[in-house]
Amino acid sequence: MDVIGMYGLAGRRAIACGSTQGIGRACAMQFARLGAEVTLVARDEAALRRVRDELPAGEGQQHRYLCADFNEPDALAEKVRAYLAETGPVQILLNNSGGPPSGPILEAKTVDFVSAFARHVLCNQLLVQAVLPGMKESGYGRIMNIISTSVKEPIPGLGVSNTTRWAVAAWAKTLAGEVAKYGITVNNILPGYTDTARLAELIEVKAQRGGISEDAVRHEMIGKIPMGRLGTPEEIAAAAGFLASPAASYVTGINLPVDGGRTGSL
Ligand SMILES: NC(=O)c1ccc[n+]([C@@H]2O[C@H](COP(=O)([O-])OP(=O)(O)OC[C@H]3O[C@@H](n4cnc5c(N)ncnc54)[C@H](OP(=O)(O)O)[C@@H]3O)[C@@H](O)[C@H]2O)c1
Repeated sequence: MDVIGMYGLAGRRAIACGSTQGIGRACAMQFARLGAEVTLVARDEAALRRVRDELPAGEGQQHRYLCADFNEPDALAEKVRAYLAETGPVQILLNNSGGPPSGPILEAKTVDFVSAFARHVLCNQLLVQAVLPGMKESGYGRIMNIISTSVKEPIPGLGVSNTTRWAVAAWAKTLAGEVAKYGITVNNILPGYTDTARLAELIEVKAQRGGISEDAVRHEMIGKIPMGRLGTPEEIAAAAGFLASPAASYVTGINLPVDGGRTGSL
């Protein structure tokens, strides 16, 4: 395989979840740019249509979307199964959804933990069960989970998220061991502070709770990043493009921080 083939995704089909904005959208754009046919998944149908129409289609790909809610894992899985039966297998799955609400862990309610577990762990599990037969049949499978650097160093004020991301990381590591024999890889991408609507919301909440300005919160965040700036969704997507490609065939079960050097632990 030549170098373009090693890093390209032509002839592959991808499902990119949480892809109407932010990191998921950037990953969908990257998969399409690399030649994959992309199916977007999120709740907002107008936004899905808009993003689908923006996806590059240089390989003649027919991009599609599925309107589904990660708060309803069984309905989501049912929709994806029916969709795969109709359109054929996918070889790439990006698990991604909206992050859990922020706040001190002591203030978190039972429902916060239960819904975060459902949206992240259960949805990932059900989606993998749906796509795996097609990946085996295709002889190619790349499963990527967008989680957080909190699996290396829990982030204060994100108690429910910290807890849920660890559950996803443990789930992914276990899964990676089970599917490796089929040449299917499972990896986690750990975005650092990335300039998206989610980060803007976290900054707003932190500023309100601390009685300080959003600029001050942003400044404090940037001060912790050796590169001295926030990440862009495209920088996270570049890592997803690599992990989805044939070039990453021997990389599995890892946690890959894309964080400008912020995470202090190894
Ligand atoms: N940005 C950061 O600095 C950062 C850092 C570390 C980790 N992360 C994590 O990375 C993930 C993506 O972050 P982001 O910043 O790109 O978030 P974002 O800008 O809030 O985008 C979230 C995406 O997920 C979709 N979504 C949200 N809830 C959904 C649901 N119930 N069902 C289906 N789709 C849903 C949204 O589309 P619809 O509203 O159309 O459904 C949207 O496309 C999150 O889990 C976040 O916590 C982000």
